[in-house]
Amino acid sequence: MKLIASVDKNWGIGYKGKLLVSIPSDQRFFKNETVGKTVVLGRRTLDTFPGGRPLAERENIILTRDRSYTNRDAIVVNGTDELEKLLEGRDSDGVYIIGGQSVYEQFIDRCDIAYVTKIDYEFAADSFLSNLDDDPEWECTEESEEKTYYDLCYRFCTYVRKKKD
Ligand SMILES: NC(=O)c1ccc[n+]([C@@H]2O[C@H](COP(=O)([O-])OP(=O)(O)OC[C@H]3O[C@@H](n4cnc5c(N)ncnc54)[C@H](OP(=O)(O)O)[C@@H]3O)[C@@H](O)[C@H]2O)c1
Repeated sequence: MKLIASVDKNWGIGYKGKLLVSIPSDQRFFKNETVGKTVVLGRRTLDTFPGGRPLAERENIILTRDRSYTNRDAIVVNGTDELEKLLEGRDSDGVYIIGGQSVYEQFIDRCDIAYVTKIDYEFAADSFLSNLDDDPEWECTEESEEKTYYDLCYRFCTYVRKKKD
């Protein structure tokens, strides 16, 4: 499994149910990476999408505890066991964990690559991804040159889970 997220200086990812900022080239990066793949997201993150609709050209798997919830454009699962069953026997390389905080927390241990767009700014935030720079299990193996969007600076970084000796 892979994880994909945009974070600020404090590894903040969201505030009051919204993204901290939308950077067009980051959105393109996210799209290029995930189109044709499976994305796994929490129901609150779905609510942040335009019209609350699943992402086009991707298989969307939405986690919710609401058993009455259905979505004609997505697969809905009510727990991690159900998700595991659904993904059994599939190539997990094509499965992207796309948030939010609660979903990252539950699946980060199963991911071996994390694509993290690091924005060099401190936003007000109430949702976070755990700091992979402070995590000895992860290493940053690639970092793009610094990019800018108005006065924001950001980089595309790839983190890889270290192999156990
Ligand atoms: N910067 C980024 O890259 C990025 C990416 C994605 C999201 N975000 C931000 O993250 C924030 C949302 O994060 P969040 O933690 O509040 O919400 P979330 O993880 O998107 O969704 C939480 C919801 O998912 C469902 N859920 C989670 N685990 C489940 C499980 N094991 N079984 C069944 N259902 C489960 C529940 O839905 P029900 O309540 O329906 O039961 C839960 O309330 C927003 O601010 C969003 O903008 C940022």
